[in-house]
Amino acid sequence: MKPDQAKLEIPFIRAVRRSSEDVTLDIDGQIFLAGAEDTVATAILLAGALPNRLSAVTGQPRAPFCMMGACFECLAEVDGVPLRQTCVTPVRDGMRVRTAKGKLV
Ligand code: FES
Repeated sequence: MKPDQAKLEIPFIRAVRRSSEDVTLDIDGQIFLAGAEDTVATAILLAGALPNRLSAVTGQPRAPFCMMGACFECLAEVDGVPLRQTCVTPVRDGMRVRTAKGKLV
């Protein structure tokens, strides 16, 4: 979520948040706020930074789907490490996330 959109509430995602503390992370060069206990995939979805990658087989756009580490649709580069499963990666203040728009991962 962009800092200027901090008042935007998405009930489905806000309902599972356990902490009101926010962290700042860089997604594709833009700064967003995320809940301290969010995953990177949640932050990507809230930021609207989709698709997070393209299918290596078909080139189709992909996005987080299962949110529990089973489908591998949420892969992105996190702090320079490629192919991280962002749905099982907790956010950290200052984290740098790069989606793979326009290239096959
Ligand atoms: S969303 Fe399915 S493995 Fe991450």
